[in-house]
Amino acid sequence: MRLPLAALWLILIASQLPAGEPSAAERGYKALTETAFIPASWRPRAYDNAWKRWAGVAEKPAHYDAAFRDYYGLHPAPYPNSDLPMGFRPGSFLFVKGIAMDCMLCHGGSIFGKSYVGLGNSSLDVQAVFEDMSAADGRTPKLPFTFSNVRGTSEAGSFAVYLLGFREPDLKMKTWSNLGLHEDLCEDTPAWYVWFLQTIVQPNASLFATLVALGETAIGLGLLVGLLTGIAGFAAAFLNGNFVLAGVLGSNPALIILGALLALAWRNAGWIGLDRWFIPWLHRTFYAGSPSPGETTPSSG
Ligand code: HEC
Repeated sequence: MRLPLAALWLILIASQLPAGEPSAAERGYKALTETAFIPASWRPRAYDNAWKRWAGVAEKPAHYDAAFRDYYGLHPAPYPNSDLPMGFRPGSFLFVKGIAMDCMLCHGGSIFGKSYVGLGNSSLDVQAVFEDMSAADGRTPKLPFTFSNVRGTSEAGSFAVYLLGFREPDLKMKTWSNLGLHEDLCEDTPAWYVWFLQTIVQPNASLFATLVALGETAIGLGLLVGLLTGIAGFAAAFLNGNFVLAGVLGSNPALIILGALLALAWRNAGWIGLDRWFIPWLHRTFYAGSPSPGETTPSSG
């Protein structure tokens, strides 16, 4: 008798709770994960038949949803999504049901098998997704421009140029015109650096994170007090070069130029810092008072 009584109480209490408007964050999450904001790009058959384009695959894989995600670098949706991967969602085109895409195609990722909305998708093969889905839908797999050259990246600049082609200067929609797309807008990380990141850096992520932090601190201190300025300049250029190769732009190219100039001017760069005393001391200590031809010290120069 106890359980039904407890259940009755729960029902009574629940019916007393205010209906409650969803909070702004709840409405936002619902819109983000459930609303199709653009028309469906593909019919459902595109998803079902995409495997036919996979090299060496003769029949539809068992556990197709997982195989599909694995092949294209997509992740399970951490919200109800009709078994579609995160980044796809049910939609429609002119009242015909289909599959629409959403921001999580590129902005949904996973760490150790757990999916996160908003995490950059570092495994996505966006070129293959669009080529295969279009072909499996009975259309040409040819894309208007290269979407990506390397898994885990997308040509954000080209996408912007392409999409702005649909807009007037005041952003009103218009028929598409080519604003000057060309194939050398590539901003991808080169494949050899992706290899380096994935096989060397990623398995030792905490070691590299520590090295970068120590390196940055050492460079900063060296430049501040003018100690081993040339080496600090070289290290700054090297570190910033790695950041650029990994796909970041920001101020890093400017810092590479400044670092390179400092390294080139190493003999004079530290003159107003500790190098004024440190470099001559190094020479005295390790070259035992035999200055090379043309060698000067602060006192003689
Ligand atoms: C085809 C892949 C792709 C899709 C789909 C996509 N994005 Fe992005 N998004 C990117 C990339 C790549 C960048 C980084 C661009 C760069 O820094 O050059 C980016 C950057 C952003 C940024 C800036 C983030 C920052 O930290 O500077 C925002 C905000 C953003 N996207 C929102 C959205 C929203 C909202 C949608 C859906 C309407 C969306 N994106 C769909 C690829 C995508």
